[in-house]
Amino acid sequence: MRRAPLVAAAGAVALAVAGCGGGGSSTRTSTATTTSSAVATGKQLFTSVGCSSCHTLADAGAKGQVGPNLDTLRPSDAAVVRQVTHGGGGMPAFDDQLSAQQIQAVARYVSSVAGH
Ligand code: HEC
Repeated sequence: MRRAPLVAAAGAVALAVAGCGGGGSSTRTSTATTTSSAVATGKQLFTSVGCSSCHTLADAGAKGQVGPNLDTLRPSDAAVVRQVTHGGGGMPAFDDQLSAQQIQAVARYVSSVAGH
């Protein structure tokens, strides 16, 4: 009696980045439904892909002077997505280096920490 081979459908359990971001004194705004792991990923990306060499963002320890100071500008989530995806005004586009998800993560991060 033969049975169909077991399909090894291993449920891909995406291990969430378990970094407890002990950011200290962050002011809580509204309900914290934003995925904090995306924010943590965004912070890593911000420094690793080079945003910090051109932009100032206190939370990331970034002191770049080429582009606008993001703490002052406080761009919205959507504005960061647009700018990072398409670039412009002297800033390179990152859509060939970053996935849409990574761009989202960076945008979440920037819009959640800028000006704090
Ligand atoms: C080579 C330098 C450089 C790098 C690297 C860079 N930027 Fe920029 N960025 C700029 C410049 C210059 C501007 C101003 C563009 C303008 O005035 O239109 C800018 C503008 C912006 C803006 C403002 C958009 C708006 O609505 O006005 C945001 C947000 C931003 N960058 C985020 C990022 C992020 C996030 C990264 C990393 C993924 C990044 N930048 C990497 C130079 C850079």
